[in-house]
Amino acid sequence: MKSFLTMTSPPITAMIRLDHSHVLAAFRRYHPNSPKWRKRSIVESACIALEIHAQLEDEIFYPALSRVAPDNDVLHKSEPEHNQMRETIRSLRNMGVNHPDYDSCFMQLIRETLHHVADEETVLLPLAERQLQSELQTLGASMTRRRIELLCERPMQVVTHTVLTFPLASAVVAGVAACAMGHLLCGGRVSGCAPRTAGRR
Ligand SMILES: [Fe+2]
Ligand SMILES: [Fe+2]
Repeated sequence: MKSFLTMTSPPITAMIRLDHSHVLAAFRRYHPNSPKWRKRSIVESACIALEIHAQLEDEIFYPALSRVAPDNDVLHKSEPEHNQMRETIRSLRNMGVNHPDYDSCFMQLIRETLHHVADEETVLLPLAERQLQSELQTLGASMTRRRIELLCERPMQVVTHTVLTFPLASAVVAGVAACAMGHLLCGGRVSGCAPRTAGRR
């Protein structure tokens, strides 16, 4: 019998596309002339998202795909490309935001990621949708469980850099989450979230 998480999970391919959009959105926020604290937060937010995403693909998506398409050339070069991105991320962290090559090193990471994402979105995701149809939701649920474990390993880093990279979106999400939590915990009695009763002004 399928678990509730599996029945309600989006397919793994949709989750991968969403992760890609999140990383590309962080890339677009980077400007060489921005204050250094902001550049560092954007870079760290993109790097953490990439590291978690690559680990999830290495552990869950690629093994599933290699069962049904063991000879696929794009799949074969995907893990080495993840390792190359990890190497570039290591260089960025080692040099720090004050280094004169920081901007060009981040541009290198952007180029590597764009190339890799294009291959996944044009070859691997359509392949998975053809060959793994009945498993996509189960794989999506596995990805969610593992993602929660990985996020719990460094919660403060994730929250801090996400808020500094996407301040407006974070404020909206935090507001909605706080309102939803208040409603759940207090049965709608929290100020500002309370449902209107009939006849009340
Ligand atoms: Fe990947
Ligand atoms: Fe990916």
